[in-house]
This record gives sequence, structure tokens and C-alpha cells, in this order.
Amino acid sequence: MTTQTLLRPTDDVLTSSAPHRDRPTVYDVAIVGLGYVGLPLAQEACRTGMAVAGYDLSTRVVDGLLQGRSHVDDLSDTDIATMTAAGFTPGTDTSVLAQAATIVICVPTPLSATGGPDLGAVRGAVRTVGEQLQPGTLVILESTTYPGTTEELVAPMLEEFSGLRAGRDFALAFSPERVDPGNARFGIRNTPKVVGGLTATCTERAVEFYGRVVDRVVPVRSTREAETAKLLENTYRQVNIALVNELARAFHELDIDVWDVIGAAETKPFGFQAFRPGVGVGGHCIPIDPMYLNHQVRQQLGRPLRMVELAQEINTSQPAYVVTRVAELLGRPLAGAHVHLLGVTYKANIADDRESPAHPLAELLVAAGAHVTFHDPLVREWDVAGVQRVTDAGQAAAVAGADAVVLVQDHDQYDVDALAGAARLFLDTKGKATTAAAHTL
Ligand SMILES: NC(=O)c1ccc[n+]([C@@H]2O[C@H](COP(=O)([O-])OP(=O)(O)OC[C@H]3O[C@@H](n4cnc5c(N)ncnc54)[C@H](O)[C@@H]3O)[C@@H](O)[C@H]2O)c1
Repeated sequence: MTTQTLLRPTDDVLTSSAPHRDRPTVYDVAIVGLGYVGLPLAQEACRTGMAVAGYDLSTRVVDGLLQGRSHVDDLSDTDIATMTAAGFTPGTDTSVLAQAATIVICVPTPLSATGGPDLGAVRGAVRTVGEQLQPGTLVILESTTYPGTTEELVAPMLEEFSGLRAGRDFALAFSPERVDPGNARFGIRNTPKVVGGLTATCTERAVEFYGRVVDRVVPVRSTREAETAKLLENTYRQVNIALVNELARAFHELDIDVWDVIGAAETKPFGFQAFRPGVGVGGHCIPIDPMYLNHQVRQQLGRPLRMVELAQEINTSQPAYVVTRVAELLGRPLAGAHVHLLGVTYKANIADDRESPAHPLAELLVAAGAHVTFHDPLVREWDVAGVQRVTDAGQAAAVAGADAVVLVQDHDQYDVDALAGAARLFLDTKGKATTAAAHTL
């Protein structure tokens, strides 16, 4: 028996002949939350010829889009113009939701102050959708979350605010977003989309919708498997990155070049995937998603996921390790030393600095009394107390004048060997330098 048949078996009557299925709608899809996930989805839906509405509660985001400005790395202003020409209408008016055949929710799911899931944005968005929900609509949650959210939180809330019944009057599904910002090879269309519905018919409806947008749709047993698949993907990354971070520390003490070791290991054509050490993990996914899973397992089973907690601990302590390496290399206390950081985003060639390990690194250096500056071609404002931004014009002087320069993020713009050659002391945390002038992790 599948999970789907266990879920609301008597409600699964939303078939293609259901009365409201073909109600007249203005929009094929309305996307709630126009950020790193929602906007690329809107773009791909526009490309297929769908009528696409966008709803976001941020007037800053909506005004920017209306003025033709993209605020996410993967879309240019020209892309926004193309979408607008195709009829894409971003707005802060919730009534578009009542006019859409499908509603996809792509709002943030950060950690709370105590390290648990913060579903405030999901609750807010679900309430808004529920208040506008019409019979026959397909609602899909894409925000990363812990297993059970769609069934136990989203379905009851939508029912409460709409007076409709999930799986009977409207369809509900979860489909994890797999956007990899900055990835030129894999985008929405050619990344398979995992889909799990509240009922078998909900899954079918969601498969049908995504079948128009992506090349391959992968249905799973229920919303829970779809929710958990995303958490597995990112937990796998978090644990493997922690493994190489820990190995990098040990190898350094053993005088073994970790980059050489990884390069050699990845020549094996099967059974090994390379992960690389660095200052830590960042972004909206790797440091957060495994904690959603761990939180749920702790709550329901009363025990932690030990690998997840250990990986989190190792990755979180990596900035402090880098600080000790800088101090060691300097051979004198950090107090009063000038440390210049290169690249402060969470990954190369994107402007997103959410959860970037460069933050704790800079904070720890400041706390140790260092004078800290940073350069990043993609970041204009960086809110770390006591850290000064160096512009392109000041970069050469900062690199040459600093007591230590640390490559945190290897944006393509950086000529790492030249920078290492120009610096008095250069720590390359990304394994990019080929010159003996650079120290590596
Ligand atoms: N960024 C990524 O690389 C990535 C990749 C895969 C999955 N995800 C997941 O996708 C989800 C969205 O992440 P994101 O990076 O797109 O976030 P984001 O911050 O870039 O965008 C979210 C948007 O939602 C809007 N919003 C917040 N609350 C709202 C509400 N109640 N109603 C309407 N709009 C609201 C915000 O104003 C913002 O514009 C998260 O769960 C995240 O974990 C992100």
C-alpha cells in the first residue's frame, strides 16, 4: 500500500472531470515569492507561453521588477524585459491568486533564533493563498521544509482560510526547488523535478503542470518523500563538505596536500565524488536544510541525526580554524594586523552573501583585534561591523599593503596567482593558486 492511499483516501475525487477543474482563469500560474527560486520558475513558465502572475509582499522587490530590474543572479534585466513582454505581471495584489489555475509558493524558510525551522513566511504565504483560494486550483509548495509540512501545516491552513477541502476541492503538492544559482549548465528546464501530492490525483495534477515547464518530472509516493528528497540532497553535501574540512585540518598537520589528494581521488571514474574544503558552508540551503531534518527527527524520535550535528559543528568551526591559520602564518598576534578578505559571497560568481562563512570569519578577525577590509566585485554593501569595503580602485593597494590576504571566494575575476604574488602573505582557502607564493588550507 502506498502512502498516497493512506492519505485522505476518500477525498481523492479531484479528477479531470471534477466540476471546477476547468473554471475560467486569467493566469496559468501565480508564483508567490519572487526571489532566487520564484523568479527563474516564472521565467521558465513564461517561455512555455503560460500566462504568469507574480505575487510578493515586498514592494521593493515588485517595484524593482516593474522598473525592469532583476535582483537575482541568474536573471538579467533583459530577462525581466523579455518576461514582461511575454505578459509576466509582478505585483503586491493578492487577488491574482484567485485568478490562477496553479499557485506555486516559493518563500524563504530560514532558521529561527534558536536554530529550529522558521516557517513564518510559509505560514504568511499559505494564509494569503488560502484567503484567495478557488475550487479546482492546484497549490504547490516549493520552499524547502521538514517532512510533514505540506500535509500537517499547509493543508489545514489552506482549508481553514478557504473553507475548501484539500484533495477534494483543490489539489495540493510539494515539489522541492533545486535551483543552483550561477550554474550555467543546469537550470529549471533540464533539472528533473521531484513531485509528491497529497493524493494520487494531486500528484498527477502537479506532474501535468511541471511537465509543461521542465524536461523530466519524477513523481514520488507522497508530499513527505518529496520534502525529504531535498533534505537528503543537501544533507549529503553538508556531511561530505564537513568530511573534507576535517580531513584538510588533519592533512595540514600531517604535511599532506589536501588539494593534491582530492585531485588524485577524483580521477577514479566511479564511486567517488569530490567535495572541497573552504571557510565553511553558506547560502540558503546547505547550512539550513539539514537542521530542518534534524529538528524533525529530534522532535518525533527523541534523538538527533548524529552525522548531521557533527557536520554542522565541523563546518561552523571552520572560520575559526581559518583564523588560527592566518595567525600561525603571520607569526604574531592578530591584534593590529591588517587582514584583507577577497570574495565574501557564499559561492563564486554570484552576489548572494546569505549565510556566507565570510561573515563569521570577518567577525572573528575583528574580535581578535585585526583591521579587516574586504573586496568583492559583486558585493557593494556588507553589513559586518568594523569591516571596510575596498573598491576595485583600492584593491591593488590593499592587497600589497595588508599583512595577510585571504582568498575566501574564488570569483572568476580574480587572478589568484597574480594576487598571491602581490601580497605579503596569501592564504588561498579554495585551492586555486598554482604559485608557491600562496599558502593553502
Ligand atoms: N536560493 C537558492 O539557491 C535555493 C535553492 C533551492 C531551494 N531554495 C528554497 O526556496 C525557498 C525560497 O528561497 P529563495 O532563495 O527564493 O528566497 P528569496 O529570499 O530569494 O525570495 C523569497 C521571496 O519571498 C517573498 N516573501 C516572503 N514572505 C512572503 C509572503 N508571505 N508572501 C509573498 N511573498 C513573500 C520575499 O519578499 C522574497 O522576495 C526557500 O525555502 C529556500 O530554502 C532556495
